[in-house]
Amino acid sequence: MTSQTRMAYPTAIEAIDLVKDYGRGENTVHALRGVNVRFEKGRFTAIMGPSGSGKSTLMHTLAGLDSATDGHIMFNGADITAMTDNQLTLLRRKKIGFIFQSFNLLPMFTAEQNILMPLTLAGDKPDRAWFRQLVRTLGLEQRLNHRPNELSGGQQQRVAIARALISKPALVFADEPTGNLDSVSSAEVLGFLKQSVKELDQTIIMVTHDAVAASYADRAIVFADGRIVADEANPTAEVMNELLMAERDRATRQAAAEAEAMPTASGPRHRR
Ligand SMILES: Nc1ncnc2c1ncn2[C@@H]1O[C@H](COP(=O)(O)OP(=O)(O)OP(=O)(O)O)[C@@H](O)[C@H]1O
Ligand SMILES: [Mg+2]
Repeated sequence: MTSQTRMAYPTAIEAIDLVKDYGRGENTVHALRGVNVRFEKGRFTAIMGPSGSGKSTLMHTLAGLDSATDGHIMFNGADITAMTDNQLTLLRRKKIGFIFQSFNLLPMFTAEQNILMPLTLAGDKPDRAWFRQLVRTLGLEQRLNHRPNELSGGQQQRVAIARALISKPALVFADEPTGNLDSVSSAEVLGFLKQSVKELDQTIIMVTHDAVAASYADRAIVFADGRIVADEANPTAEVMNELLMAERDRATRQAAAEAEAMPTASGPRHRR
């Protein structure tokens, strides 16, 4: 990348040597193994990679929902790994929207109340025109008075999307936002996210298992075993599928090589 393109897109958020371990001792899971990545303002990035490779962990850690084991996260000129819980809560409320893989809707509240919750918590008035636009685009007009357990998975997902976007946050994390949607709704949601990046100058970081969904993004990153293994500008579905298959082949070969090198019960196999 040239310094000129770098100047055109200032940094929205950056991870520096980001490490996240779960557990301790022998049972430690190394979910992030020193990730260095910079996301530019006003850009839409997709993150792909096998299940368990650390995609959700990266999103939760970047958003300050989960603490980092080591490393730094620079957002708006500040290192969020050094912030207190209160500072993080305020920052998230004002600047960050998060669409959770598991929706995380509040069961006692209706769809409308869930969507407006970030504003209610912040004591802010909703922009009714924006609320109506979100509800219309996401096809939720007829479901606003339903509670989450009265909604289908896809409808809950769309409520979660509206909730993340209602306060027009500068930075949006979307963890498989189309995972429960049919292909038509999925295309609508992705088109809407892409448009909102343009119109609101938003930064979106989206995890997806769908190479077609990734092709809506300006950039796609492939994650494997807690690391970035590919970083593609203007991704197409074909290129992303090829990268994912190449990564799967590499992982299979590595597992086979490790099994080969593993000492047997009677000692290392290759020793004479
Ligand atoms: N709270 C936790 N405690 C212990 N281990 C965890 C925890 N959360 C995640 N992990 C582990 O960290 C690794 C990365 O998990 P993560 O949820 O980030 O994967 P992912 O790439 O989002 O997978 P998927 O595509 O299935 O959503 C996995 O091995 C997982 O088992
Ligand atoms: Mg995940």
